[in-house]
Amino acid sequence: MSTELSDAMASPPTEPSSPPTRRTFIATTTVVGGVALAGGLVATPPAFGAEEAVAAQAPPVSRVSLTVNGVRRTVTVDNRTSLLDLLREHLDLTGSKKGCNAGACGACTVLVDGRRVNSCLTLAVRLEGAEVTTIEGLEEGERLHPLQQAFIEQDAFQCGYCTSGQIVSGVACIEEGHTGSTGEIREWMSGNLCRCGCYVKIVRAVEQTARGK
Ligand code: FES
Ligand code: FES
Repeated sequence: MSTELSDAMASPPTEPSSPPTRRTFIATTTVVGGVALAGGLVATPPAFGAEEAVAAQAPPVSRVSLTVNGVRRTVTVDNRTSLLDLLREHLDLTGSKKGCNAGACGACTVLVDGRRVNSCLTLAVRLEGAEVTTIEGLEEGERLHPLQQAFIEQDAFQCGYCTSGQIVSGVACIEEGHTGSTGEIREWMSGNLCRCGCYVKIVRAVEQTARGK
């Protein structure tokens, strides 16, 4: 028997190579990845000390002291905190509502030093020493503010989501003297939207309160 013939008879015929299964593919790539890591082929981030890492992640914060509804409050907040978030999340004054959070709806209206502002667009850290009045600060003891009472009497709300902003804005509108006509009230209340469409009754409530002043 020739050498080639005896070798062929000794070795069993080989199967044609089959495609890799998902299991063998994952196993192979895992091994290759491990080898690459062990060999230092994958870049590793520079080593930071624990304090440096914490400092790099922590947002800048500031202390701010302001008077809210007659009470002096001092808080430390992330510099990006809006007045609305300061009120709702740090001081538990949730009467001011977050509608659009972009200055378009007026649901977050509060008074800062007597002027109405959209608190969602006002940075809290810029209000050092300011006087802030929210819907919670309008009552006098157990008595509602006359405009709050007028909203009830005129039934000037449905869902109520816009109502605190409407009332705070209405208080300023009356103080500013922009109540000469329904048209003037509409104009000066136009920054406060009501998705329930209670505008006619809201204007009536502002008118009623202005007349009673
Ligand atoms: Fe501030 Fe809409 S939530 S204007
Ligand atoms: Fe519903 Fe004004 S009462 S949005």
